[in-house]
Amino acid sequence: MKPSNRTFIISGGASGLALAAARNLHSAGAYVSLLDLNTENGATIVKELGDRAKFFEVDVSDSESIAKAVQGTVEWVKQTGKEIGGVIAGAGVGLPGLMIDKNNEPIPISSIDFVLNINLRGTLDLIRQALPYMTTNKPDGLDGERGVLIMVASSAAFDGQMGQVAYAASKGAVASLTLPLARDLSKHGIRAVTVAPALFESNMTKQMGKKVKQSLENAMEFPKRAGQPDEFARIVREAVENPMLNGTVLRLDGAMRMPARL
Ligand SMILES: NC(=O)c1ccc[n+]([C@@H]2O[C@H](COP(=O)([O-])OP(=O)(O)OC[C@H]3O[C@@H](n4cnc5c(N)ncnc54)[C@H](O)[C@@H]3O)[C@@H](O)[C@H]2O)c1
Repeated sequence: MKPSNRTFIISGGASGLALAAARNLHSAGAYVSLLDLNTENGATIVKELGDRAKFFEVDVSDSESIAKAVQGTVEWVKQTGKEIGGVIAGAGVGLPGLMIDKNNEPIPISSIDFVLNINLRGTLDLIRQALPYMTTNKPDGLDGERGVLIMVASSAAFDGQMGQVAYAASKGAVASLTLPLARDLSKHGIRAVTVAPALFESNMTKQMGKKVKQSLENAMEFPKRAGQPDEFARIVREAVENPMLNGTVLRLDGAMRMPARL
């Protein structure tokens, strides 16, 4: 699907990887509806991108908050006439914690809920709420395509490290649901693709200590560095444009396999 003259709903779009994807699609003529908790960044980005961008303050773990943003986007689409071509579910968080700590305390269930509610439930809820506005799109091109859903997993979906049980569970689930999602939606001409990045430069990784980041970079095979947000954005663009990408998880990881511990 060509991104131009389509609207993309992008969660986590006020920062990092999802923002890079938003900029890339926007530069190809797309309209971007950015959903994020970070209102300050959101306002700055919309100012920079201009008419073809809108920001909605959203907590993806709150269904009502998603509903308002989807409704707001649908109203915007009515004005512009640019159908919702896709969802990029980029909002995500990590909250490291051992299953049981040195004081024999198990991980708080609130930590597990927090990560799963944003990374897994938030991803599915956003897609679920956007879909009825995509299935009614006019079929496009020879294939009759109506849209594309792009999700974000992580290397942790496959080789999560110590302290990453909740994060790995959330990202592994996103990877696992990709194929059945594609199967559910094939009759509607809607594709589902997941990207699984290793270490990428973003706000999330800025919060890592220098030593932790360095040891992750050392675990990369080639190139031996963190990925750049634009390198993530380019694979998202390909997933939007290439109709044969469907029901699959694309590892974007410089052949890195994360070690058990750093
Ligand atoms: N950067 C990496 O190395 C890396 C590696 C693998 C996977 N990922 C995944 O990529 C995605 C993007 O992360 P990033 O690295 O760009 O981080 P980031 O922190 O730069 O961006 C994440 C954005 O999500 C938003 N967000 C967080 N919780 C939210 C919520 N409840 N509702 C709405 N928005 C919320 C944040 O405000 C932020 O703008 C995440 O799903 C992350 O797990 C990142």
